[in-house]
Amino acid sequence: MIDKATIERIKDAAQIVDVVSDFVTLKRAGVNYKGLCPFHDDRTPSFVVSPVKNICKCFACGEYGSPTDFIMKHEQLSYYEALKYLARKYNIEVKERELTDEEKETQNTRESMFILNEFARDYFVKTLRETTEGQSVGLSYFRERGFRDDIVRKFQLGYSLEKRDALVTEAQEAGFNRDFLLKTGLATGGENNQPIVDRFRGRVIFPVHKLSGKVVAFGGRILRKTDKLAKYVNSPDSEIYSKHNELYGIFFAKKAIAKEKRCFLVEGYTDVISMHQAGIENVVAASGTAFRPEQIKMIRPLTQNITVLYDGDAAGIKAALRSIDMLLEAGFNVKVVLLPDGEDPDSFARKQNAESFHRFITEHETDFIRFKTQLLLKEAGDDPIKRAGLISNILESISIIPDPVTRSEYVKACASLLDSSESMLTNEVKKMRLKQFEKKEQADKKQSEKNPVSTEEGFSSQQSGSVAAKNPLDQFEREILRYVIRYGMQPLYMRYREEKKKVDGKAVVEMVLEEKGPSVIEFVFFDLDRDHIFFHNKLYKNVFEEAYSHSDDETFMPDKYFSNHADLEISRLASDLLSDRYILSKIHAKSIGEEIDSKDSRLAEENMLETLVPRATTELKNAYVQQKIKSVKQAMKTAEGDRKNVFLQEFQQLQEVKKELAKVLGERIVLKY
Ligand code: CTP
Ligand code: MN
Repeated sequence: MIDKATIERIKDAAQIVDVVSDFVTLKRAGVNYKGLCPFHDDRTPSFVVSPVKNICKCFACGEYGSPTDFIMKHEQLSYYEALKYLARKYNIEVKERELTDEEKETQNTRESMFILNEFARDYFVKTLRETTEGQSVGLSYFRERGFRDDIVRKFQLGYSLEKRDALVTEAQEAGFNRDFLLKTGLATGGENNQPIVDRFRGRVIFPVHKLSGKVVAFGGRILRKTDKLAKYVNSPDSEIYSKHNELYGIFFAKKAIAKEKRCFLVEGYTDVISMHQAGIENVVAASGTAFRPEQIKMIRPLTQNITVLYDGDAAGIKAALRSIDMLLEAGFNVKVVLLPDGEDPDSFARKQNAESFHRFITEHETDFIRFKTQLLLKEAGDDPIKRAGLISNILESISIIPDPVTRSEYVKACASLLDSSESMLTNEVKKMRLKQFEKKEQADKKQSEKNPVSTEEGFSSQQSGSVAAKNPLDQFEREILRYVIRYGMQPLYMRYREEKKKVDGKAVVEMVLEEKGPSVIEFVFFDLDRDHIFFHNKLYKNVFEEAYSHSDDETFMPDKYFSNHADLEISRLASDLLSDRYILSKIHAKSIGEEIDSKDSRLAEENMLETLVPRATTELKNAYVQQKIKSVKQAMKTAEGDRKNVFLQEFQQLQEVKKELAKVLGERIVLKY
């Protein structure tokens, strides 16, 4: 256990920017820092870090917290582990008192598993270096392969003895219980009162590190070629390890990836290690499995550029194409480098230094779409049917790229490579996107039928715009969003002062700008935030937050931006809100005391933002209060005694607020769409 005073010292020392920077690339944005959120699939930097408040917050997914919270969440650690992590980072000595037996037992399983893994890693390293078998078999194997000693140490490579229970015995003597040996997969067996035995025997060991450096798993490579045994034995998935969530090498690569602004993707353990040895450290491996979205999330905060290194064999390349599509879909710029025949990154790196390796890459990299097109073209030859299939295969890859500009560049490139018309390909891609969108919509619908959102409290349930039952707040939120999308960056008002001047001896009156109001986006944000309310509809909320995150940029044009948005649901909403059928209604116009011809209504609307936008936010607040009143009334019915009084009081307060709002709103206006 850590004593209170030490906890305070750790908390005082932990700087949020510093802590977050170890995992996310941050850029200065005014007094804050911004980056891509590591907790959701973030494409625009929504993750804001405030050095002043010493907290971070994602404006898209809502994750929020102190340095300790961030570490707990990001590294999936307990409170206690997170404190220890920070203590190590800031060189604070933690005096831990001995745990009681009871505490030892209740100490959480995950933590024990990590501790056991650390123990095993140290044991394998020690075995490699200090036992005769380790040195003569394991260490000499690494040397024969040409791994330098500093590299063997850096990757904490080890050796597991031939003996069937070497680790099991050692660990149990050190006090680890057998459940954890089985849970981590370090041991197997144990059925029917049989003893448990080591999983890795007579193998060199590659520990697998999480992003934070903790050891989650091991890979054990056999030393001699045999047909009977698998080349690698790996830890099974467990409470702390899922192979789809980890990338081999990420801990050793993260700094270099952020610095070099690119990540090399290779196949296996030895590729990563040999490249490090050659001086290229921004490299990770998916370790023999296809790339997964969960793994992408680790790279995205570091860079958007991925270069895949292939060895020259065509079968391997074709198998990998599909998993690369997923990288495109996630918005990465994917490049491909084909290595010389018969070389894999491991063997190739051993013949190169960093400089010559980089030169080779610069000379041989192509973007993925061109690479795939050329590969398939070669295969199809002159066969027209094969060619047709190839075109749609490539267009499929292009169609999933989220960025419209990149998409159209690729369409252009392919049109020339494939010798076909650009407009036809563009059309084809559009159709594919629509189909994907509809498919996704259907899947969402099915999902929401399976887990219907609770509507018990109406406004507290987060609803996805397209499918969920209509929340009465929706129409008010939508109205606000309409102003945001149409006029988001315009100031609510401009105040001018008349100034008499003499120009060429003549007296003229000049209008001088005296005061400029906040932009529509700024106003909406602060006006709602002030009353602690916000968008409930998830789609609207996302759109607003995206708009807000761009609002420092003076050139930002919300109408263009959202109507061309990569997310079709958003671009549809934007075009809908931009269409004239929502222009200032007659009712609205009347309420401001003017009769306006519909032709002039857009202009009129633009000139009345100062009245219209605050009205829209007030309407939302009003609707919110109404809803709250309804639910309090409901609660009063069933409450008894003191609780009833509490509700009654709340009810009366809400009625007061309602009256105030009614005054502001004047005669209540009903929006008619
Ligand atoms: N792999 C695995 N199990 C196997 C074979 C492969 O988990 N039976 C994974 C390992 O992560 C391995 C990667 O797939 O690193 C690539 O396989 P391979 O190229 O066969 O292994 P290398 O690591 O290159 O090993 P070596 O060069 O020593 O043969
Ligand atoms: Mn290899």
